Amino acid sequence: MARLILPVNSNLEKLCSNALAEIKAAASGDDLKNLRIRYLGRKGALTALLRTMGDMSAEERPAFGKRANEVKSELEDAISRRETTLAAQGAGERAEKPLDVTLPGLRPRSGSIHPLMQVLNRMIEIFTSMGYEVAVGPEVEFDKYNFSLLNFPDNHPARDMQDTFFISRTGTAGSAPTDMLLRTHTSPVQIRAMEKRKPPMRVISPGKVYRHDRDASHSPMFFQLEGFIVDKTVSLADLKGTLTAFVREFFGKGARLRFRPSFFPFTEPSAEVDISCMICGGAGCRMCKQTGWLEILGSGMIHPQVLRNVGINPEEWTGFAFGMGVERISILKYGVEPIATFLENDLRFLKQF
Ligand code: PHE
Repeated sequence: MARLILPVNSNLEKLCSNALAEIKAAASGDDLKNLRIRYLGRKGALTALLRTMGDMSAEERPAFGKRANEVKSELEDAISRRETTLAAQGAGERAEKPLDVTLPGLRPRSGSIHPLMQVLNRMIEIFTSMGYEVAVGPEVEFDKYNFSLLNFPDNHPARDMQDTFFISRTGTAGSAPTDMLLRTHTSPVQIRAMEKRKPPMRVISPGKVYRHDRDASHSPMFFQLEGFIVDKTVSLADLKGTLTAFVREFFGKGARLRFRPSFFPFTEPSAEVDISCMICGGAGCRMCKQTGWLEILGSGMIHPQVLRNVGINPEEWTGFAFGMGVERISILKYGVEPIATFLENDLRFLKQF
């Protein structure tokens, strides 16, 4: 007797058409998620039907299994197609909403330049406008550049002037030129610049320097800006004129300067420069320790031995040099103490600049 060809299994077909209808009607991603669980999940309708395979005849079973797999992938396809359609509709609806141009805008969040860098940049601007070039150099430096070539004698107490962080020592204390250290000033950059260039030259060297010293007005790391000029007939008058021009430009026309004799191994004669206290106008206050004056920099005529050390003939060329601390200048400009205020990066402080 010929066998009647029935649909593989009417329950399977019913499940398929019901599921397809429900998927088509699904209104959200959540609906689809639920449908997937209900039909295709581990405890879902399709899995339940597959369990009935055990009761089927050996002829029925393979066709049923094959069809069940087809149904499974048909439903999966339908779900993902519906997902795409719903997503596209959502975007379309959002796009159709009229744009309210009267809503307040979103303020872009932006940072700002650190006050120390604002001060340093302004200093650089003033000196470059006077024809100085900017040079930079390594923070981990050879003793030779930080001390020896700057006329600090080996084992001389002058080396104690700057509380040095040594990194490696190869000889007896302070003597071997291969010693490495954290530079204590940016003068080594000036030596490197003098070695590389031919006079006449004007160079400034801004950068970080290190000394083991810490209190209200000292930090183990701080910024310096040093500068020098080498030319024919440079005199002390040029040094005074240059520094006066810088100070008036930076602090204002009313600033007065005072040159005091001092000592540095690499300059002769040497002078420290004070400016009239801008907090009290010279009358005396806490900032200027009642003196009316604030020390801002060291300077002097470049020592002939330093010129000789870098191969420049001191009979033919002369020069002056100066160096100042950026934090110190910032403290004076803004009347803010202690120095740590500038270095701890508290946003409540930084936002005021
Ligand atoms: N290098 C000196 C310091 O750091 C500053 C200075 C520079 C003094 C140039 C005189 C001339 O203390």
